[in-house]
Amino acid sequence: MADKDIIGIASDHAGFEFKAALSAELAALGHGVLDLGTDSAQTSVDYPDFARALAEAIKAGKVKRGILVCGTGIGIGIAANRHPWIRCGVVHDETSARLTREHNDANVIAIGARLIGVETAKDCLKAFLSTAYQGGRHDRRVAKLA
Ligand code: RB5
Repeated sequence: MADKDIIGIASDHAGFEFKAALSAELAALGHGVLDLGTDSAQTSVDYPDFARALAEAIKAGKVKRGILVCGTGIGIGIAANRHPWIRCGVVHDETSARLTREHNDANVIAIGARLIGVETAKDCLKAFLSTAYQGGRHDRRVAKLA
């Protein structure tokens, strides 16, 4: 378990409680966790700042993969994808999390804490971590994202 990679995680205030639950799940799965904030559900913050924190951690090689949470997953996902080295899928269930790995080689997933339950979010996390990119017909399309 000790050689499992460190996963980056960040959220805005709306995603703070999910970030705590998902961080605990990552630790239970044997992963290190790089928590990039925010640190409170009470203080309103701007989700692009936290998407950027994770994107920069990936660019710097501190982590290879990450999880983002905001109210819908949409805003923080849009913000993450402004960074060209990020492929972030907004996911709602195990299937979307699996497919964004298989088809898009996603290095980040974004989750909406106001839209899905925390157990479903954990399912997303596990699918994201355990699913390999399929390559093949997807290579040309993923290359065009860059
Ligand atoms: C914050 O109120 C909310 O706008 C944010 O968490 C997210 O849902 C934006 O897409």
